[in-house]
Amino acid sequence: MAISAAAAPAPEWAFPGIGAANRRPEPRASEVVRLPGAPAIFHRSEFDGRQAIDWFPNAHPLAPEAVLHAKGNGFYPCGYCHLPDGRGRPENARLQGLPAEYIIEQVEAFASGTRRAAVPYIPTSLMAEAAHAIQPADLKAAAAYFSQFEPQSHTQIVETATIPAATAWHFVYRFDRSGHEALGQRIIEGPVDGERFELRDPETRYIAYVPEGAVARGRVIAEHGASGGPACVSCHGQALVGIAGASPSFLARQLTDFRSETRRDPDAAPMQAVAALLTDAQIIDAAAFVGSRRPWTRAEMRKMMNKESAPPEHHR
Ligand code: HEC
Ligand code: HEC
Repeated sequence: MAISAAAAPAPEWAFPGIGAANRRPEPRASEVVRLPGAPAIFHRSEFDGRQAIDWFPNAHPLAPEAVLHAKGNGFYPCGYCHLPDGRGRPENARLQGLPAEYIIEQVEAFASGTRRAAVPYIPTSLMAEAAHAIQPADLKAAAAYFSQFEPQSHTQIVETATIPAATAWHFVYRFDRSGHEALGQRIIEGPVDGERFELRDPETRYIAYVPEGAVARGRVIAEHGASGGPACVSCHGQALVGIAGASPSFLARQLTDFRSETRRDPDAAPMQAVAALLTDAQIIDAAAFVGSRRPWTRAEMRKMMNKESAPPEHHR
């Protein structure tokens, strides 16, 4: 009997920290926190999620209020999690360069529950809380702001059979180089420097360990499809618009969520069909390849969107 991949359980490694309790950071009131080279100074108590940690306020255009500060008694403005220029972190998402309408649609999907994680994952639940809290005018301003940036990539992909000892920590992985373990069929992603990650330093770099040969196998999926399904490039283009250079663990979670149909906003249908054909191993390979590509550019996105809205050419 054939079992469709859609019925497959979600791979737990893609959701580090599931089952963990959500704790707000404990304020150690007056302790001053500095980041070498950054002009801003923060107190430890300011890492409580009420404001974005904006180490380099002059390195990005003026951000709308909703990106930097929570309103009233609220927690978590967009920039606290996604960072002030929307570059994102592995446990959330890169917002840079996404079309403003897409950003608005996705936030509405989180609010309405048509976009959920395949398993309870606290970062996604907090995103839903933020989506509930934001007012339409603030969302519009935040979406326009994030869409103006060129997408960046901060993750190095390393193919290997053995990785440093890894534990789930702050919804990513922390590495202990004094030990090691087998990678197996997983993507294990975490910051190179845990301290910078905790300080929400935008220059934090990440490593994603992927199985040997994953990038080459993922290229075949991207260019020719998997299990008879369509090639990724047939919709995302050669530049893999919207996805290239994203965090591989983020990509694996999205493919899992489409496959589990917990990501089921109206525009998700084509991706549900694609992901339904993918095994866990193919999700890993596709995420490794897509994550290893240079980020798409906004010019490439515009070109693709113009092609889509152009009158159809004659078919062969
Ligand atoms: C508490 C942290 C947090 C806050 C605050 C937050 N987000 Fe998110 N956001 C996330 C996480 C985590 C995800 C990924 C969730 C998933 O896919 O399961 C996400 C995903 C998204 C996505 C989907 C991106 C994609 O490529 O699919 C958009 C768009 C988004 N957020 C916009 C916003 C905006 C706008 C705000 C401010 C109103 C905001 N977020 C506030 C954590 C947060
Ligand atoms: C039939 C067209 C089509 C094909 C083929 C396709 N995609 Fe997509 N993809 C989409 C659309 C449309 C979206 C936006 C979905 C939405 O709005 O919810 C998307 C979104 C995604 C996302 C979520 C991005 C984000 O920021 O949240 C990922 C990841 C993704 N695709 C990966 C892939 C991979 C990998 C392949 C190949 C295995 C692939 N796609 C093939 C149309 C396609």
